Amino acid sequence: MAINANLSKQEIETNNDDDLVPLLVAEDIIKIYQTGKIETQALRGVSFKVKPREKLFLIGPSGSGKTTLVSVVAGITKPTSGKVFWKNLSKDITRSTYEEIIKARRTFAGVIFQDSKLLPHLTVKENIELAGFYAKVKQKVVKQRTEFLLKFLGIWDKRSKREDTLSGGEKKRAAIATTLITNPKILIGDEPTGDLDVETAESILDLFDRINVELGVAICIVTHSQQVAARANRILELRDGVIIGQHGSQISLRKLENSRLLEIDRQSRIVLPKSVLQDMHSPKHFSITTENGKIILHPVYKTDFEPNNMTHVTTCTMCGNLVKNKVKFCDHCGAPITDKGENNGFKK
Ligand SMILES: Nc1ncnc2c1ncn2[C@@H]1O[C@H](COP(=O)(O)OP(=O)(O)OP(=O)(O)O)[C@@H](O)[C@H]1O
Ligand SMILES: [Mg+2]
Repeated sequence: MAINANLSKQEIETNNDDDLVPLLVAEDIIKIYQTGKIETQALRGVSFKVKPREKLFLIGPSGSGKTTLVSVVAGITKPTSGKVFWKNLSKDITRSTYEEIIKARRTFAGVIFQDSKLLPHLTVKENIELAGFYAKVKQKVVKQRTEFLLKFLGIWDKRSKREDTLSGGEKKRAAIATTLITNPKILIGDEPTGDLDVETAESILDLFDRINVELGVAICIVTHSQQVAARANRILELRDGVIIGQHGSQISLRKLENSRLLEIDRQSRIVLPKSVLQDMHSPKHFSITTENGKIILHPVYKTDFEPNNMTHVTTCTMCGNLVKNKVKFCDHCGAPITDKGENNGFKK
């Protein structure tokens, strides 16, 4: 395949500056969604960095906060608190105006989500050119770069086609091209291959590898896929809105405990895996000792400082009322109290 060698060399060099400074820094990100009276803590203090040219993936169960996190670091969603720094902007983007963010994002990040779409009435080439036009890239550069990207991404033959006549993989390549037209430093994505069959996904993943290695673009992508995760430099595991651990590429998504390094966050917190706690019959406290450089946690099932005149209570999952433990029905709304209602404290 013919590649515009001059252009790519020039662009690699622009991506080659000071590899020691992180490209993206997220500090203590908290995001609380408010729907009516219900608050959901989607992120509970997440910090991480992405290095230049790094290939970083985010994994975690459904609802753990992955989409929220990539939307925050891509400058699409404002966090409730916390800071996000991009290398090309000398201020915290969470304090920047939308205009400043949109302007800075043009040259910093390409964002690709599962439902990234092309404009249906334009050809592939026109879609890419339009993205360059909106990003205020010079017309001459847009022309050169569109040609380069069409060839680099293997869709040169499809340049005059419209979205409805393209395969899933071709649509994805075209969508990637629209994000690369501004020569970004990082591609941020939310399950970008989640809607593709295994073979097509594999070819798109090969492309991400080439974009990473040959164009020097860092990758920060959410995935549920073993196929994707095995290609990472580093994988962050989210659970209940916090990063609980890191993994390398030798990961099995079915046996995360085999490769997990527990993360100590900026508040010195460690989240112990639920499976470990369950195996120990879910102690609420631990005492701690150190021995030969190791930390030993001793489970404590009953403390003698629990007040005597208090009783354990459970939250009714229907109305939020506090009811005494072992009660079968809520005395406020009458809903059955299931085992799911967690013992969560004491009441006089
Ligand atoms: N706009 C919103 N309003 C209210 N709650 C939301 C909103 N978006 C997400 N949430 C809640 O925030 C939590 C995290 O959601 P998020 O979409 O970030 O999870 P996820 O890890 O991407 O899940 P999945 O793997 O299913 O895509 C969930 O409890 C979700 O219900
Ligand atoms: Mg999601």
